[in-house]
Amino acid sequence: MKKIVVLTGAGVSAESGVPTFRDANGLWEGHDIMDVATPEGFARNPDLVQQFYNQRRASLRTVEPNDAHHYIKKLEDHFEVVVITQNVDDLHERAQSSNIIHLHGELRKIKSTIDPDFIEYWEDDVQTGDLCPKGGQLRPHVVWFGEDVPMIEPAAMECAGADIVIIIGTSMQVYPAASLYQFAPPNAPVYYIDPKASTNMAGLPADRITAINDKATIGMAALYDQLVKDYK
Ligand code: APR
Repeated sequence: MKKIVVLTGAGVSAESGVPTFRDANGLWEGHDIMDVATPEGFARNPDLVQQFYNQRRASLRTVEPNDAHHYIKKLEDHFEVVVITQNVDDLHERAQSSNIIHLHGELRKIKSTIDPDFIEYWEDDVQTGDLCPKGGQLRPHVVWFGEDVPMIEPAAMECAGADIVIIIGTSMQVYPAASLYQFAPPNAPVYYIDPKASTNMAGLPADRITAINDKATIGMAALYDQLVKDYK
C-alpha cells in the first residue's frame, strides 16, 4: 500500500467555518496574534489569553468536519494515510482519520505550566487558578510562537516514508511546519491544494509539484478520484 502524508493548515477547516489566521490581516478573531499566541502575551494578560482559548474551545462545538476532512479519511480505503496538521481543532478526529499528528497542539487539551508530562482533555473553560496536581497553572495545549514544536521529529519521520505528499490550506509561512515536505523522498509527488497554491516551493523542482488552486473540499474531492485511479 502506498503511503500518503497529508499536511493540513487552517484552510482545510475554513469551509467548516473556522477562520484562518493570515486572511484576516494578522488578526485572529480580532486579536493580535502576538497577544494571544506567545508566552509573553500570556505573561502580560493571562485572563485574556485563557478567555480567548475558552471561546475557541467552545466554538469548536458549533462546527463540523467538511468534505475535505471526509475525503482525507476515505483515502484510508486505498492508502496508508498519516495526517500532520497545524490546526488545533479536532475536525480530523471527528472525520475519523486514524493517524493524526498535531504539530501545534490541540484546543481540546490543557497542559501544566510546570509539569511537561501533564496534558489532559478539558471540556470546560480554564480559569486563572485552575492547577495541575503539582500546583502549576493550567494553560491551553497550544504551541505558541517562540515555543518548541515537540511533534516535529515524528512528523519529519513520517514525511521521510511518504510515497505521495498532499498539502492543503496553509500559507506555508510558519516554520518548522512549512519545511516538512522537504523530508519527503525526492521521487514523491507533492499536491498542494489552496486557492493561493503555487509551484514555487523551496528545494523542490516545480515539476514535482501539482498546484490545485481550489478550495479544500473541491480540490480534495478531485484529487481523491485521481489518486485512486492512478494508483489502482
Ligand atoms: N480551502 C483551502 N485553502 C484555503 C481555504 C479553503 N476553503 N480558505 C483559505 N485557504 C488558505 C489560504 O489561501 C491560506 O493559504 O488557507 C491558508 C491559511 O493560511 P494561514 O491563515 O496562514 O494558516 P496556516 O498556514 O495554517 O497557519 C500556520 O500559524 O498562527 C499560526 O499556529 C498557527 O497553525 C497556525 C500557523
